[in-house]
Amino acid sequence: MRRIIPLGFGLIAAALPALAQDPEAGAETYATFCAACHGETARGDGPVADLLTVPATDLTRLTELNGGSFPLIEVVYRIDGRAPIKAHGSPMPPFGGMFEGEDATMKTEAGQPVLTSRSIVDLVAYLQSVQG
Ligand code: HEC
Repeated sequence: MRRIIPLGFGLIAAALPALAQDPEAGAETYATFCAACHGETARGDGPVADLLTVPATDLTRLTELNGGSFPLIEVVYRIDGRAPIKAHGSPMPPFGGMFEGEDATMKTEAGQPVLTSRSIVDLVAYLQSVQG
């Protein structure tokens, strides 16, 4: 028994990071769920942006505003709703339930694994591809 358990974990760990990121699938998800507020090119200028009480963030500057590294954990948690809601509330809904499905892991630049779902991996790949 003692040898079977670590082997099982090893297989899961080996299988998950192999998942390829698909920025094109992410772009479609983005256009459907995010562009209304964040804008077609992710610059925070979507058609409903003017109606928001808090401005929609320019998502092409996430890396720049985080000192040159993409804030992976913050972005994933913000999308799936694990990030705490801002004190004054936010017009942005949490999308965790909507993007549930195949589990997937991503790694931060420091190598820390972040567990999420396939659709969010692709969505984040798209966001990484539009960094200025
Ligand atoms: C109803 C409008 C709306 C929709 C739809 C929306 N957002 Fe947002 N989003 C906002 C607003 C407003 C903010 C800024 C306030 C905040 O952080 O809560 C924000 C903030 C963010 C942030 C945090 C940026 C930072 O400062 O770190 C990320 C990342 C983000 N959105 C990604 C997305 C993604 C990806 C989608 C689609 C799955 C999406 N948003 C859909 C309105 C929206």
